[in-house]
Amino acid sequence: MIEKIKAAANFIKERFDKKIDLAIILGSGLGELAEKVKKPVIIPYNQIPDFPVSTITGHKGRLVIGELKEKTVLCMQGRIHYYEGYDMKKVIFPIYVIRSLGIEKLIITNAAGGTSYDYAPGDLMLITGHINNTGVDPLRGDNLDEFGPRFPDLTTVYNKEFIKLTEEVAKELKIEIKKGIYCGNSGPTYESPAEIKMMKSWGANAVGMSTVPEVIAAAHCGMKVLGISCITNFAAGITDKPLTHDEVIETTNQTKNKFIKLISEVIKRI
Ligand code: HPA
Repeated sequence: MIEKIKAAANFIKERFDKKIDLAIILGSGLGELAEKVKKPVIIPYNQIPDFPVSTITGHKGRLVIGELKEKTVLCMQGRIHYYEGYDMKKVIFPIYVIRSLGIEKLIITNAAGGTSYDYAPGDLMLITGHINNTGVDPLRGDNLDEFGPRFPDLTTVYNKEFIKLTEEVAKELKIEIKKGIYCGNSGPTYESPAEIKMMKSWGANAVGMSTVPEVIAAAHCGMKVLGISCITNFAAGITDKPLTHDEVIETTNQTKNKFIKLISEVIKRI
């Protein structure tokens, strides 16, 4: 895996060789932020050796590297998910590639379902912690010693300073932002109402099908993470309404301006 990570990183370095300040993973429907990048170098995932390619509507599948708010950023416009059938090593591969480019800061975004009326469609939620309910640890198997320890610690991965900064920025911009726990499930089936009841009792405020594997890998290689969920729907059983991917995309479309405004200012100051 190390060789493959290095080959993918070198492929990117050949196309963009300046220092990159931070990376951003843009979730379902949130990819538009990448369109704001100036002088972009665009690299489709399918051109990068061994890089996984996303198959989902609303995910473009390319790196957009360039200037955004006086910072040099690498945007992952679309990500891949465990439910697409990739094994976890493939899901976390991009994180190690990003780390190999010397990047230490990661903003990670997703669409998620809210497990109560306090986390409603259109809300933004700062992730303060997660529950890995995918059924696997993405680091199972040989440890990549070059990147981090066999038994990584997750205590501080959701960086407290990043959270504080984002709260300050949100206040200044008069954007309401919540804080909460994200429970990552494997998908692709939405959770059942009974499962949502259980996850809520565990302390989950939002549920989704991404982020947790990538954050674990980021913690492994010593990165600082800011996680933001865009609540796109009430999780199953909170209302009687059935869940659809169309609703997820529709809500991100309605929320993305607020999201872009917030993230842009955070990028400037992070
Ligand atoms: N559950 C899981 N993943 C999701 C949801 C949800 O309710 N909404 C958006 N992604």
